[in-house]
Amino acid sequence: MSKAADYGFGAFEFPRGWFMIANAAEATETPAPVRFFGTDMVLYRGKSGKAHLVEAYCPHMGAHLARNTTSYIVLDGEHVQGDSIRCPFHGWRFDEHGQCDHIPYSDFVPKAACLKTYPVKEFAGIIWTWHDPEGLKPDYPLPDFGGHYGQPGWLKWDMIHLGDLDIHGCEIVDNMADYGHMAPVHGSTECIYFANEFIGHVVHQYFGTRHRSATANPGIDMLVLDTWRTGPGILESDMLGVFNGFWLIASTPIDDGLERIWSGMMVKVNDGAVPASEEDVAAARAFAQNGIHGLGQDVEIWMNKRECINPMALPADGPYGRLRTWYRQFYNPRPKAAELQQRSNGRTVTLDRRKEVGLQSETFPA
Ligand code: FES
Ligand SMILES: [Fe+2]
Repeated sequence: MSKAADYGFGAFEFPRGWFMIANAAEATETPAPVRFFGTDMVLYRGKSGKAHLVEAYCPHMGAHLARNTTSYIVLDGEHVQGDSIRCPFHGWRFDEHGQCDHIPYSDFVPKAACLKTYPVKEFAGIIWTWHDPEGLKPDYPLPDFGGHYGQPGWLKWDMIHLGDLDIHGCEIVDNMADYGHMAPVHGSTECIYFANEFIGHVVHQYFGTRHRSATANPGIDMLVLDTWRTGPGILESDMLGVFNGFWLIASTPIDDGLERIWSGMMVKVNDGAVPASEEDVAAARAFAQNGIHGLGQDVEIWMNKRECINPMALPADGPYGRLRTWYRQFYNPRPKAAELQQRSNGRTVTLDRRKEVGLQSETFPA
């Protein structure tokens, strides 16, 4: 599959941003191999409960720190001690900052015996990392997902791994500007408005439609969505249908042109004053599953398409060009990123039939 350089995005092979790397439950005291941004890494949870992400290969002689089941370090339960990780080969141990803090057979511990560590944040049941090709601190915070996670009345999401797509992440991002696929792929029966707003590192998609199945009165009620991307790896959507849903799609490059994708939805079951009934919880789960099924429709297209370096875009298609300019900011050093933001900031309205059908929506600011 095509790589970032084939699209001409900019200086970096992988974009800057916040990215999901695992469900929180996958970080355990058994170190796990993970691979993202073309780099083999190891995820583990220290005894303190904190999750850590470190480079996979030991600086001593290159053993993989997680891919082992037979060394006595592993069998004797010495793999993770405190918040340190011990190499299964000769037993060198590295603390949470990556510094070697113990060698079983030597008092001399070289300063250079150091593992690269990566920033990790655990939030909303997910392990996140900040990836930055320039090694700088985040220039925007991890989203708070509407503040809903763990709140009374809200069903938590269960992030499902939908696949590793042999496609560049930009083609997933293209979906933000893709008006034309809403009826054929997702089952819109009558689109009322479709607009995009570009604000710095965020891009919104405002969409109002009647829909075959996602509302109480299919084909009659409006389904109102405010969907936005915060950087290249996080898509959130506030959905008003049968329930109020808050949807997350997370995608992270494994290698250049290979993307892992997960999705989950929080659903507001009731106001939280009393526990929701079993029927309501079941209906809310079905609503969440329906949403994720909706993404499955995109995934099937993505899994089977070839790359699209230059879309043959019609004016009625939606602002693919503007969206890709926005996307390029994450592939370039920060001064250039600021310039690309300037160029993409603003709004494109692809469709607005609200007056014609006598509907106004607050979700689509005038
Ligand atoms: S290779 Fe890791 S301790 Fe020797
Ligand atoms: Fe889609």
